[in-house]
Amino acid sequence: MSFDLVFFGGTGDLTWRKLMPALFQAMRHNKLPEGGRILAVARDERSDDEYRAFIRERFAEVDPSKRPSDEEFKRFASMLHYRRMDLSRPEHYAGLKSWLDERGADTAVLYLATSPYLFPVICEQLGMAGLNTPNIRVVLEKPLGHDLQSAQDINRVVRSVFHETQAFRIDHYLGKAAVQNLMALRFGNALFEPLWRRESIANIQITLAEGLGVGTRGDYYNNTGALRDMVQNHALQLLTMIAMEPPSTNDADAIRDEKLKVLKSLKPFNDESVARDVVRGQYKAGTVDGKPVVGYLDEVKVPAGSTCETFVALRTEVQNWRWAGVPFYLRTGKRLAARDSQIVVNFRKVPHPIFPGTTRANKLVIKLQPEDGLELHLLAAKGSGPSGSMGEVLSPVSLDLDFDKAFATERVGAYERLLMDAIAGRLNLFVRSDEQEQAWRWVEPVLEAWRNDPNGPRSYAAGSWGPPAASALVARDGQAWAEEQ
Ligand code: BG6
Repeated sequence: MSFDLVFFGGTGDLTWRKLMPALFQAMRHNKLPEGGRILAVARDERSDDEYRAFIRERFAEVDPSKRPSDEEFKRFASMLHYRRMDLSRPEHYAGLKSWLDERGADTAVLYLATSPYLFPVICEQLGMAGLNTPNIRVVLEKPLGHDLQSAQDINRVVRSVFHETQAFRIDHYLGKAAVQNLMALRFGNALFEPLWRRESIANIQITLAEGLGVGTRGDYYNNTGALRDMVQNHALQLLTMIAMEPPSTNDADAIRDEKLKVLKSLKPFNDESVARDVVRGQYKAGTVDGKPVVGYLDEVKVPAGSTCETFVALRTEVQNWRWAGVPFYLRTGKRLAARDSQIVVNFRKVPHPIFPGTTRANKLVIKLQPEDGLELHLLAAKGSGPSGSMGEVLSPVSLDLDFDKAFATERVGAYERLLMDAIAGRLNLFVRSDEQEQAWRWVEPVLEAWRNDPNGPRSYAAGSWGPPAASALVARDGQAWAEEQ
């Protein structure tokens, strides 16, 4: 299958940091279909060779195991092309169309790795240039909107030019291996399904913790905050994957219909529940990995006195028969104690303990990063104590499935998987517009309540697990975050 992949924003960070390395890995893994061309477009004038040299140089900044050898880069570079484009000029889109038409590849994937405020104008121009035929797909990189209204505005334009099945909205968390594991665990095995409900599960915790601060992105981040940056998209997408009903098939719309139902079942927030169930924080100076780091307000491009949140913890519920009353805790933040993202499914304790000592409930940990894998925490008898009524105290043991080890050579990164899916036209791991809008609808009352709240975020020391109020939020239900158990 021949394809053309066009990156708008071809010299931007996302392109060289994530997309080019992902494509190179796909080539290395022999996953990139033969007969492909990769075209970067951006505002400045460069030749193909100059662009190739630019990408070659940038590869020096990616993880050494993912850098090409000279030989490999030569092969990769032969696919790379560059075109100057002023995104406001119709004749430049016409030029792009001729470039694509000359070869007439089976598929053209247009990846908008630009600032989202350009999405409407790019889509309109693509439509006017006739670059919306059925063999064309458009990939939209987040942030997709700033609130419900702006997301709807973008979707309206996208929909006026492309059919929904041509629109690939990226949430790179859906490309992570752990999400595939979660789908396989739930719908490829019969073991967990009978337990996957309120009768057996006490609560579910989703933690997306980063050790890094906002780095050089202070200006972007300050207009965004953790709720928009991580919760509206990544955390909620993970929640839908955990909570959804089994889809009738493995098709994109069957899956996305079920995810949408979860989003629609989330307990809506109001001012009172935001005050009670949502904690926002902002990091102050502290120590991460043994090194002192500055607080958020001292980061570059962050305005003095900013009340932007760099941490959110919240409690919600999925209001349906399967999950009624089960708390779902979501937590994310920058400059936390570790880069550690995981979903913890805490099961209920045994109804009638017969062994001495305190009983611990079972838990299933779905690890997203730094490694991905599954851990099932159980209790076992070591076999060294007395039997009978004074029997031995049970010990915690865990069954560990380390997928990085088990399938070491076949591991595929998130962007690699999603790019290959976009080329192949598989929409399963992309977000449909109604899902995305529903997620905005759900976070809006939180944004609104914060706007009217003079208190601002609570501070937490960099290198901690966030403000103590986040622990109190969970403790109120008699629960604790994974690291506190
Ligand atoms: C992005 C956010 O979507 O996800 C960043 O904009 C965040 O702020 C990043 O750092 C985290 O992604 P990952 O894959 O490193 O966990």
